[in-house]
Amino acid sequence: MSISGLALVLFLLFHGCMNLVLVFSEKWYNIICETLGANWYALIGTLGLAFLVLVHFCYAIYLTIQNRAARGNDRYAISGKKEGVEWESENMLVLGAVVIGFLILHLYNFWFKMQLAEITGGATAPIEDAANGAKYVIALFTTPIYGQIYCALYLIWLAALWLHLNHGVWSALHTLGWNNLVWMKRIKVIGTIMATLVVLPFVIVVCYYLGVGIGMLC
Ligand code: HEM
Repeated sequence: MSISGLALVLFLLFHGCMNLVLVFSEKWYNIICETLGANWYALIGTLGLAFLVLVHFCYAIYLTIQNRAARGNDRYAISGKKEGVEWESENMLVLGAVVIGFLILHLYNFWFKMQLAEITGGATAPIEDAANGAKYVIALFTTPIYGQIYCALYLIWLAALWLHLNHGVWSALHTLGWNNLVWMKRIKVIGTIMATLVVLPFVIVVCYYLGVGIGMLC
């Protein structure tokens, strides 16, 4: 679970930086999208990502079932807020489900119209637009009203992702053995910094196009 989670964090770091390019140059963004089209290395990457998400998801379900079984009927014997226990740490499954739910919508927004359109020869979207990521992102986030609703949805998604990673990165490093008394507090800070570094580029892109969209409305 920890290794698949940290591998997904690496993908997100790349994906966030890649999306930030769009704010500076539509041309270079589309060159990156074209490089990540339906060629053999991009397809291997996509399959690898799908595998990681599946492993992470299945382990999350398995561990939750195991935890509940271990706690038995005493699950609700003590209620109320426990000292030092963060809200995220008790709601990781719910946060993960929110992240995956929005991810399905996100894949429909972009992956369907880009890589899948190329693979299926244009069955899911026009093939001539398959590498035009700039066009799709700008249309999604700036179309009057519809675009601003999408920006709000993406910001909710990113808030859930930040909360999930804020606990998840700490938990992964802890599980992998970085859990002595000196480093416990430090890896908490490292987790928060990593979560922020991953999520911030996406937030910048969404807020930038939210501004552009509102500017078009006024
Ligand atoms: C500002 C926010 C975002 C934008 C503009 C964006 C844009 C895109 C675009 C254009 C694609 C298709 C092109 C490509 O494959 O590279 C894509 C694919 C993808 N995105 Fe995003 N993305 C955003 C946020 C996210 C977030 C937060 C996640 C995960 C939590 C995510 C996960 C993915 C995945 C898994 C794919 C498919 C990658 C593949 O086919 O190998 N994206 N995104």
